[in-house]
Amino acid sequence: MSGEDSQLSAGQRREALKEVYAQAQACERCAELAATRKTVVFGAGNADADLMFVGEAPGASEDEQGLPFVGAAGKLLEKLLGEIGLMRADVFIANTLKCRPPGNRDPQPIEIENCREYLYRQVELIQPRVICTLGNFATKLLRDDPTGITRLHGQPEVREVGRRAVRLYPIFHPAAALYTPRMLQTLREDFQRLPELLALPAPEQSQSLEIPEFDEEPSQSAGASAAGNASVDGAAASTGASRTSAGGEAAADAAAEADQLGLF
Ligand code: URA
Repeated sequence: MSGEDSQLSAGQRREALKEVYAQAQACERCAELAATRKTVVFGAGNADADLMFVGEAPGASEDEQGLPFVGAAGKLLEKLLGEIGLMRADVFIANTLKCRPPGNRDPQPIEIENCREYLYRQVELIQPRVICTLGNFATKLLRDDPTGITRLHGQPEVREVGRRAVRLYPIFHPAAALYTPRMLQTLREDFQRLPELLALPAPEQSQSLEIPEFDEEPSQSAGASAAGNASVDGAAASTGASRTSAGGEAAADAAAEADQLGLF
């Protein structure tokens, strides 16, 4: 990777995001998740969104469809979005994990760590002003702190996520509010503050942050190594189809698939 993402056009950032999508499709960093998943649920929505949501991990429906928040919790999320005049297509929705933990068990620390880089790259390329963390896992990860959602919900703060300063806004996970009316009420109240947060000036970006390489991580398999070879350099990624290496071709195929799925 070279250059500063903030100097890329929205179109270049979108193309670079599709490269990250392609890398994630072949990811085998978590052996158990790679062996048991049906799909890699990269995230979906507007690749240039001001508002991003980060949930926990895909469940069974998400794993089937390859899209985040398509079950009951997703329907509630959509309803709450509608109440503030937004649609799914206005925002970008992702998770701390891109693969479903078997039996919907909790994400394990090593899995969250393995997957963190994808989420950070998504944030760096989408460049949201506000990130809503849904529940404990996303909140703890993006705040890098063990304080729980019950104490933090509804309290925005400027934080650096990857190399990007954002307004972080922890709220309860919609799944927790599905069957608990009081929690739904709190979630709804916290949601209602989103338009006000989105209207604030964008957080100032620090100039001093180091630019890490995405693909330094040791690969564990042929698939992972093919993905690792795919550059996410924004200038080189104007079209995935222009890649010539074997890994690049796999990445280009997956990037083309991203378009067909209408993920962005
Ligand atoms: N719960 C989550 O945290 N993420 C999903 O994608 C679906 C349900």
